[in-house]
Amino acid sequence: KRVAVVYGGWSSEREVSLSSGEQMLRAAQAAGYDAVGIDASRDLASQIAAEKPDVILNGLHGPWGEDGCVQGLFEILAIPYTHSGVTASAIAMDKRKSKAVYKQAGLDVADDVAVTRAEAARAHPIKPPYVIKPVNEGSSFGVVFVREENNGPSQLLLSDEWAYGDNLMAEEYIPGRELTVAVIGDRALAVTEITTLREFYDFDAKYAAGGSRHVVPADIPEPVTKRALEAALKAHQALGCRGVSRSDFRFDEKKDRLVILETNTQPGMTPTSLVPEQAAYTGMTFEALVAWMIEDASC
Ligand code: DAL
Ligand code: MG
Repeated sequence: KRVAVVYGGWSSEREVSLSSGEQMLRAAQAAGYDAVGIDASRDLASQIAAEKPDVILNGLHGPWGEDGCVQGLFEILAIPYTHSGVTASAIAMDKRKSKAVYKQAGLDVADDVAVTRAEAARAHPIKPPYVIKPVNEGSSFGVVFVREENNGPSQLLLSDEWAYGDNLMAEEYIPGRELTVAVIGDRALAVTEITTLREFYDFDAKYAAGGSRHVVPADIPEPVTKRALEAALKAHQALGCRGVSRSDFRFDEKKDRLVILETNTQPGMTPTSLVPEQAAYTGMTFEALVAWMIEDASC
């Protein structure tokens, strides 16, 4: 099979995608596929036409590569591609719309309100502590914690450096532990607990070696593990995801609340990423995981 690994792109998560894509390209080649890499740019359609792949391995993250846009192009080109399709990608990328789907599926979510930069800068939109998040970003880009004692995030939000637009949300901060669960097809793999010495699991904690510690399987009570595995599978199915996804949770032990934050339809495949780690824990090598994705591709 001829496989085109599409990666890079021009979202904030470009560097993450280059890392995910390079790893997947090498793994696809090692697994015996005739694989080439395509750095997604605006002439992506003609690049794909020139390579004539049987399968597209989507290695993109963030807006445009994870939100249904590029999936629409693959559909139109009628080339089987990995991961979720147009609708699931679009809903999952929207951290507010996806919550409506989670709620309907009976999952617990954090309260939030939609805010613009100006609104969030003017006054606390909800009671602190809360988290300001862009509705459509990944890798913690633009995530700001607001505590009671802070004067609010106004300086940062109104500065010229702010690159994450105006489509923001203020979300109730859920205290407790950070858990994540990968789903492959119809199987939730394992629960990983992430701990970091940083203020939260931010970009550097995610991608700098040693930035965070991953414990798999998470050292949590067995019923909580079961709930997390079930919730991730439910989220994957309720959104209509395909292939691999990874859902992120907060677990508040005091209130016994397991809150789903989001589902990543193009989860990271970098050397510090969580899905490959959970796959390895279940005995699946990185190469086998990539081969599984390629064989699972459809359109
Ligand atoms: N958004 C990053 C790539 C992740 O979820 O792993
Ligand atoms: Mg994400």
